[in-house]
Amino acid sequence: MTLRYIALVIAGLGVLTCKTWAMVDVNMEDRVDVSLKGQAEISCIYNLEEQAKMIVWFTKLPGRDQSRRRIYYYDDQKEIIEEGSEYAGRISVTHSYDPQNARGSALLIINNVQLSDQKDFICSIHDVSADMGEGHTRLQIFNSPSLPVIEGVPKGISVTEEEPSKVAHCKVDNGYPRPNITWYKDRFPLQQSDGEVRIAEFETIKANGLFTIESDLYIRVQRTDEHALFYCEVKYFVPGALKMTESKEINITVHYPTTEVTVYVNPPDRLIKEGDTVEIRCEGNGNPQPVFSFTHKGEDLSSNNEMLLLENVKRSDSGTYVCQSFDFELGFDAEITQDVNITVHYLDQVVVIPEEAVLKQGEDLSLTCNALSSLPTLTAWYKDGTQLVKGHVLELHNASFDTAGSYICGVTVPSLDLEKQKPVRVSVQGKPRITEEIAVGPLNKADRSVNLTCYAEGYPFPTIAWNISDQRTGEPIPPPEAVSLKTDTGIFSIISVKAMSELTAKCTASNELGTEEVSRNIAAFARVKTTTTQATSTKVARVRSTSTQATSTKGPGLTLPPKQPRTGGGSGVIIAVIIICLLLIAILGSVLYFLYKKGKLPCGRSGKQDFTKEKASKDDIVMEMKSGKSEEAVLLQGVNGDKKSPTD
Ligand SMILES: *[C@@H]1O[C@H](CO)[C@@H](O)[C@H](O)[C@H]1NC(C)=O
Ligand SMILES: *[C@@H]1O[C@H](CO)[C@@H](O)[C@H](O)[C@H]1NC(C)=O
Ligand SMILES: *[C@@H]1O[C@H](CO)[C@@H](O)[C@H](O)[C@H]1NC(C)=O
Repeated sequence: MTLRYIALVIAGLGVLTCKTWAMVDVNMEDRVDVSLKGQAEISCIYNLEEQAKMIVWFTKLPGRDQSRRRIYYYDDQKEIIEEGSEYAGRISVTHSYDPQNARGSALLIINNVQLSDQKDFICSIHDVSADMGEGHTRLQIFNSPSLPVIEGVPKGISVTEEEPSKVAHCKVDNGYPRPNITWYKDRFPLQQSDGEVRIAEFETIKANGLFTIESDLYIRVQRTDEHALFYCEVKYFVPGALKMTESKEINITVHYPTTEVTVYVNPPDRLIKEGDTVEIRCEGNGNPQPVFSFTHKGEDLSSNNEMLLLENVKRSDSGTYVCQSFDFELGFDAEITQDVNITVHYLDQVVVIPEEAVLKQGEDLSLTCNALSSLPTLTAWYKDGTQLVKGHVLELHNASFDTAGSYICGVTVPSLDLEKQKPVRVSVQGKPRITEEIAVGPLNKADRSVNLTCYAEGYPFPTIAWNISDQRTGEPIPPPEAVSLKTDTGIFSIISVKAMSELTAKCTASNELGTEEVSRNIAAFARVKTTTTQATSTKVARVRSTSTQATSTKGPGLTLPPKQPRTGGGSGVIIAVIIICLLLIAILGSVLYFLYKKGKLPCGRSGKQDFTKEKASKDDIVMEMKSGKSEEAVLLQGVNGDKKSPTD
């Protein structure tokens, strides 16, 4: 407080005026600044040989004709603050006297300063000899206004307007003294100028005496104002300073006519093919966008204003698309058109000549393939997934059963990543050909049935018949129902037979050109290696691929699936082997016994080692025998297992 007091005194020194009334010399500041509701300190300094006898403070509104009012009285007897005055309870005065410098002071403190306190405060000093002196100070009140609030005009403003149009409104509240508003565009202050800028300001003094200032900005907008930033700035005084605050920045919407139209095609840089979805978009360089319409081959098209959507395009959709704009900003004279060319590429269905062919063996055939396209194509022929030839023509020479099958012609348009295919079936006439063997599927352990498969090629497609008979009695067994499976060139026939006894299965394939048959013996309880059904199918595939090896005249060679030989004389051999083995064991036993007796056999070792030895001896024997004949080894092991080791 004292610091502030000193500061005020020092600041005041520059403008200090010395007023002398009669004899007493009184010094006061011209003006004291204070914020509304703050505390004001007004000092009154006098030069006297002794302390003042009487001090009176008055107030006086500015103006010559205004009368002064006493608010405070002081002498050596009493101190009076005028009761009922607006200052009762708000003021206090502090007195001091410094005899060394012959200087005294009276400091008037006003609390809770009001706008109505903006007036002159007069200090009147009287000495003992009734001389007097006076000084006065103007109290200046300040109130910082609210932040300026800017509002743009929401609608678009046309550059075609001839007079300045209102673009924004700015408001600032509760300032004192009156604040000022300045408009800015892109950091440059705007000044009123004829025909270009107009600023309209409204001032309101509220009941509490504070100012509200509103300002409207009018300009003649230009296209460049589209990106301009407008704001208002408020300048106001605070005690001892000038301050300013800026509003936020706003854009304005500028309307200007379209002078140029651009057309975009989406997808932009890809070739368009039939079935694609294409977007044609028009854009004017004006704001707002004009109204657009589209025509194609003279026909109006319905569009979503600036966007024309073409779904599932056809080649007939190729051609020129015209986009026309109507700008209401300038009236209908301002029509602008722009066009764009679109090519819809295509690849037609593949045509193969002939569409189907039946050949005699040894005949030649040439197949031609073509597909119409708007772009260069690549043509290739395939069979069974592999490419045979590149080009339109496929030549088949000296037709055989292997020539038969399904051929595929593929046409691609590399630049469109488009491909179309067409199959063509080629059949080769001939009497049936049964491939290689009757395939035997894996044994179904549950009911001891196996699947027999017979595959016959030929055209016309052969029919397959099965004959099953008992191998021993020769009696026929009614064949089970067959399952047939047609391929491009032949027929699979599958039956499921119960292998309870040894059977002979015969597969007969016939068409009008001839008959072929194969037969095969099926062992009872056929011990087929456990293969999966998948293995069976690979076998079938193999049969097909090696079919060229089959001879045509005789029935193809039959090969039995791998299994243990079970010949009729087998049992005799086994008995002989067992006898030999027993003999060998007897000899071995006696040799061992002999060695043991002679003490050559290391028996006096620890029990533990004995045990391991014991175990090993079994294996030793088996290994030894194995070097001879494996079949014997197996048997011997069996005997050993039963009889235990001879060392026991
Ligand atoms: C406001 O403008 C008036 C007139 O130009 C000027 O006298 C006054 O000092 C200004 N007030 C502020 C706070 O800048
Ligand atoms: C046609 O094929 C048959 C059997 O494959 C062969 O014997 C004959 O030589 C072939 N003829 C020609 C002209 O290649
Ligand atoms: C035999 O063929 C039948 C019918 O095709 C099939 O359901 C069955 O699984 C096959 N059996 C074996 C063991 O492959």
